[in-house]
Formats: sequence, structure tokens, C-alpha cells
Amino acid sequence: MNAEKIDVTGLNDDGITWTLLATLYLRAWESRAERPILGDHHAAEALDRIDYDFATLERRLRPRSNQFLVALRARRLDDWSAAFLARHPDATVLQLGCGLDSRMLRLDPPAPARWFDLDVPKVIDLRRRLYPERDRYRMIGASVTDPDWLRQVPADRPTLIIAEGLLPYLPGGDVRRLLQRLTDHFPSGELLFDGMAPWVTRMIKVFHWGVRDGREIERWNPRLRCVAQVSFGAGYERIPVRRYRLVYRLGNGIPTWRRMSQLFRFAF
Ligand SMILES: C[S@@+](CC[C@H](N)C(=O)[O-])C[C@H]1O[C@@H](n2cnc3c(N)ncnc32)[C@H](O)[C@@H]1O
Repeated sequence: MNAEKIDVTGLNDDGITWTLLATLYLRAWESRAERPILGDHHAAEALDRIDYDFATLERRLRPRSNQFLVALRARRLDDWSAAFLARHPDATVLQLGCGLDSRMLRLDPPAPARWFDLDVPKVIDLRRRLYPERDRYRMIGASVTDPDWLRQVPADRPTLIIAEGLLPYLPGGDVRRLLQRLTDHFPSGELLFDGMAPWVTRMIKVFHWGVRDGREIERWNPRLRCVAQVSFGAGYERIPVRRYRLVYRLGNGIPTWRRMSQLFRFAF
């Protein structure tokens, strides 16, 4: 392996892209647990290669408690993705706002499945240095709000679209137009994403789009059918640390807490 550290200066300028380091850091942290929920050792390996002030990031992120947020979310999306790939081994997977996530390596779908990861160009430039392109794996450097990149993704197979930690950062109009373009382009598949409650997006400056219920989305895009909607904390039984498991269990009994952030699975 190349020992040269990768410089990530520049990810901070827009207040959003640096968040990919936060999720990567939390997944790497969680991978060191004795009984991890996700166990993403690729994240730990990637992190080792990055030159960044992780001590400051750690103070900001409080990984001891927040690791479970990202691990439960990623694990649920991995499980839904694996189920789709088992039903459609010839699928196209399209991950939007991929950051430095290693889902493609975690699931490693065999041929003939093919995988596309998309993020803004500066993130893809960095990503290429950590995860090289290979057969059936391509990266696209573009903004999801730009309509042109979709032409690079063939629409000839059942398609799994994953957007983890992306849509809340976009204005509502951009989310609607994006989902419309996706369902216009791909004839069939599933769309998986996480969404925040509108009151959360009003409280936290970097967020814009909020959603309460999958039926709202069905109303503005009738091609999408909500087949699952679960709280970010569902699956808390897997949390290996007793006191955090208890916090999640108690929170799960409170509707406002449960709906703070949810995971959605749509079929089309
Ligand atoms: C919280 S990070 C999540 C990254 C990754 N999905 C993960 O779970 O680690 C948000 C990601 O969305 C990307 N992003 C934000 N706005 C975007 C846009 N308009 N087009 C493409 N990617 C975008 C950021 O660059 C960043 O990688």
C-alpha cells in the first residue's frame, strides 16, 4: 500500500463536504468494537491514509455515543441493499453523495452487478486516491442537482439507488426534481435514503429538506411506493454497550425521538 498521506484540505470550504470525514470517522471507530454492528474495517484503513486533524474532529463528534447512529443506519441500508442484490444479481447500483463510504467493498456484489458512486468532483478526486476504479465499478464527479450526469448511467437493468446522509442537505425543490429525474430515467428498482423531520432541519443550519412520512413523497412522485419506513434507532438491540442500548430503547418509545431521523425504502 502507498504510505503517502492524503491531504483533504479544501473539504471544509462549503460546510457540507467535510461531513463525509465525520461519518467515515464514526464508522472506523465503530469497527474497533468487540461486537460491532457494522464492522467497517475499510473505513479504518481509509482513515489511516488521510492527513487531517482527527483529534479536533473527535472532540466535536463524540464517537463513543454517536458511532451507533451511523452504524445502525449503514447496517440497515446494507441489509436492504444486500436483499435487493440477492433478488437482482444483474442490478445496477447507484450511490449518490457517496463521500468516502465503502459500501461497494462491504457488499462486494459479484458479476454481473455493476456499481456507480457519485459525489461532487472534489470528493471524487479524493475518493479515487483511496478506492481505485475496477471492473464494474465507476465513479462520477458531479452534483446530483446537475441533470447531465444521469446519461452516464445505463438504464437497462433493475436499479438500486442509495442516498445516505445526502438529501437533508438539499433544498426541497432539488430533492423533488432529483427523484423525478431518477424515476424518469430508470424503469424499475428501489430507492433507499434517510430523511430528517422538518423540525430538525429548521434547527440545524446545514439542513434544508425535511420529511415526516413516506406518503408525502408518494404524493409528489406517484411512481414511488414506500415499502418501509423505520426509525434511525430501530435495531438498537444490536448496540453492544448496555447504557447506550438502554438510551436507544427508551428513545424508541417516544414518537418525536423515533421520527427525528428515519430510513426510507421505496420501490418503483
Ligand atoms: C454526510 S456526507 C455522507 C457521505 C456518505 N454517504 C457517508 O455516509 O459516509 C454528505 C455527502 O453528500 C455529498 N453532497 C452534498 N451535496 C451534494 C451534491 N449536490 N451532489 C453530490 N454530492 C453531494 C457531500 O460531498 C458528502 O460526501
